[in-house]
Amino acid sequence: MAPLPSSSLFSFSLLFFALLPSILSLPDRYDVQTLAAIDQSPDSQRNDLDWEWQRTGFHFQPVKNWMNDPNGPLFYKGVYHLFYQWNPYAAVWGNITWGHAVSTDLIHWKYVKELALVPDRWYDIKGVWSGSATIVNGEPILLYTGWTNSSTQVQNKAVPKNSSDPLLREWIKVDAENPFAVPPPGINTSDFRDPTTAWIGQDGLWRTAVGSKYRANDTGIILQYRSKDFAKWELLDESLHAVNGTGMWECPDFFPVAVHGQQGSENYLGEENAIQKFVIKVSLDETRFDTYVVGDYDPASEKFLPSFEALDIGTALRYDYGIYYASKSFYDPHKKRRVLLGWINEADKPTSDIRKGWASVQAIPRVVWLDENQHSLRQWPVPEINSLRKHPIRHTDLLLKQGEVFKVNGSQGSQLDIEVTFQIPKAHANDENDEFNFESSRVEGIPNNTLIYCNGSFPEAEQIIGPFGVHVLASEDLRERTSVFFKFLKFKGSWKTMVCNDLTSSSLASDATKGVYGGLVSLSSYKNRQALTMRILVDHSIVETFAQGGRTCITARSYPLLGSDNNAHMFVFNNGSLPVKATHLAVWKMDKIRYTTV
Ligand code: FRU
Repeated sequence: MAPLPSSSLFSFSLLFFALLPSILSLPDRYDVQTLAAIDQSPDSQRNDLDWEWQRTGFHFQPVKNWMNDPNGPLFYKGVYHLFYQWNPYAAVWGNITWGHAVSTDLIHWKYVKELALVPDRWYDIKGVWSGSATIVNGEPILLYTGWTNSSTQVQNKAVPKNSSDPLLREWIKVDAENPFAVPPPGINTSDFRDPTTAWIGQDGLWRTAVGSKYRANDTGIILQYRSKDFAKWELLDESLHAVNGTGMWECPDFFPVAVHGQQGSENYLGEENAIQKFVIKVSLDETRFDTYVVGDYDPASEKFLPSFEALDIGTALRYDYGIYYASKSFYDPHKKRRVLLGWINEADKPTSDIRKGWASVQAIPRVVWLDENQHSLRQWPVPEINSLRKHPIRHTDLLLKQGEVFKVNGSQGSQLDIEVTFQIPKAHANDENDEFNFESSRVEGIPNNTLIYCNGSFPEAEQIIGPFGVHVLASEDLRERTSVFFKFLKFKGSWKTMVCNDLTSSSLASDATKGVYGGLVSLSSYKNRQALTMRILVDHSIVETFAQGGRTCITARSYPLLGSDNNAHMFVFNNGSLPVKATHLAVWKMDKIRYTTV
């Protein structure tokens, strides 16, 4: 059951009882007038002010209530559009509509007063679920999943009421064509959703793809559809991709990436393929991970082939090793780049979300491109975010002895952008045996759960360097802290390098999950092996980390009690047994965005 944030019976019943009061006071969930009349402007609604400090300063979130996936991102007539799964009535999942926000820089968003899509047809009356936008003959069209009156998932289409309006305020569902696809044989009615942005095939016809699962063997699958007029769609015999035993694939994404450079592309055809690779990403319903694989796509046979089988969906690469899900990319024709949006869920309990009056935020949009290694992606916050930076604090050549903790004076605050470069300790940098890369780690049979390298002490390791990194959202006495660090372990002559996020000493007064996140960092595939870098965006309850120029990302939620706002301190630390040098450190305070409504 995909959409519920928690699957355990225990938390479900907790949730039910917690929700009872709000369920009882809900307006009729199918009362469209009420839904459409809901005003998103900040003045119209109030959250519990006691929890207001946990709200973000520069990550997008609605004024109130529950949000999940980003939907239908697009750039149209000079404006970026972000739609999102939104519950207008409560801070938990339900009554799903499409909220809408617009921006000219992907950072300063304005809420659009009108909801874009509300559940008001038999084919979406139980919820207007995720989907995408495609520019067709110069005008945008939305494809989305509807949850029908009989709880079946079907695919639908909507068009702008007035396509000359750059804000695209109002949308019309095309009743004569909807639904344009229903679950085919072999597919459960509850496993058929989230149509992708459409592309044009070699035959000049449109394609779109839908996430699904074969009932028989738990195979995650992306179904392909073809259309000549964007009205009638036929299911193709061949799926775009499928992997046994991976369960339901939500929110599929399929896009080209340049082999060299950072420029984005939306060309799925012939010629350019020589200089392009393709990415398939799916959101794994069972693990709640966004996983991807890079490969080749033959537009003639319409087949996708992973570059490395060992890196196929479900087993290897994730966009983000923390809380980051249901992401969706789009081609930004304005800046010729591919931009990725993703949903950051809460880590606290639904009862806390109800008390707060809101749940979930959107990650800072990331530019995505192919790494030089040709098999993984790099992600980096859109440069527009730099306009929020102010009052930089800089340090160079900070030598951190074993066990040293350095307080970065003047960096107090819950809205920071931090960049640190560490020199790789000699013992590692000079080691000819640094053969770490994703393929070799698989061959050697490294456990999938590399997280243990962040946590454990490993007496069998020949050498361990680190951890060294930064503490953020930390109280002055470090009783409360969120730690982001690097750690190297050498086994059988070869190094494993991890970037980790340890939340075990964070969120002192919160019921949040306080685990450890971690991802492998590839060192052998890039030129400057002498440096390790991390960039961290701190925003009240969000710690978003980009390690090694965006090769490994971790997004975490932290709800500080002692280390918030002006009591939030930041430290650089070295808990390893060798000295470490932070060659560059820069910390900026980040401006708060004042959201308005248009
Ligand atoms: C992913 C998802 C989608 C679905 C939507 C419903 O988080 O479950 O598969 O369309 O959320 O809100």
